[in-house]
Amino acid sequence: MKLYVNPASPFGRKASVVIAELGLDARVKQELATVSPVSRNNEIARDNPLVKIPTLVLDDGSTLFDSPVICEYLDSLSGTPRFFPAEGPARWTALRRQALADGLMDAAVLLRYEQALRPEPLRWVDWMAGQQAKIMAALDAMEVEAPSFGDGFDIGHIAIACAIGYLDLRFGHFGWRDGRPRLAAWFAEVSKRPSLVSTFPKG
Ligand code: BEZ
Repeated sequence: MKLYVNPASPFGRKASVVIAELGLDARVKQELATVSPVSRNNEIARDNPLVKIPTLVLDDGSTLFDSPVICEYLDSLSGTPRFFPAEGPARWTALRRQALADGLMDAAVLLRYEQALRPEPLRWVDWMAGQQAKIMAALDAMEVEAPSFGDGFDIGHIAIACAIGYLDLRFGHFGWRDGRPRLAAWFAEVSKRPSLVSTFPKG
């Protein structure tokens, strides 16, 4: 299998973390790729019309996207999923947390594109403030939930760790730890996991 990733992409990092946790490195070749809303990556476009990272190309040539689908597929390969609870409240909590973190990533990546790619005279200050407000509100919701995270490590925790890691990479000046001591303490601890150390974002 081939997985398109980028060391800065928090969505791609989710899949890389699952691969590292499950010891799938030999089965999934991770290929570095670059995507941008203003410059089409024709190689990824052949496999995914949305031209997104991550995109997983299976051995039969079919493809899977986006990150929630890829992560659940990878987790299913052993026959005993570890990161997607099978049913009941644990499943919906994990999926909701993943959606919360993915939403934070969506807002943060859009904000990054706005600031890094859009010509300055065309930037829309109110729109950027709206994305930042979503990020802050998602972090506040995570802070409320952080005491219940415990030692758990399912797809919800993975997504939250990757979302926050992306903020540290691109938006360190937001100071997200200020006023969120429980989330900050959880993140410091969970970041020691080898799968998060080996996928530390760069860019
Ligand atoms: C970034 O450079 O911030 C980035 C790269 C790939 C996907 C998303 C974000």
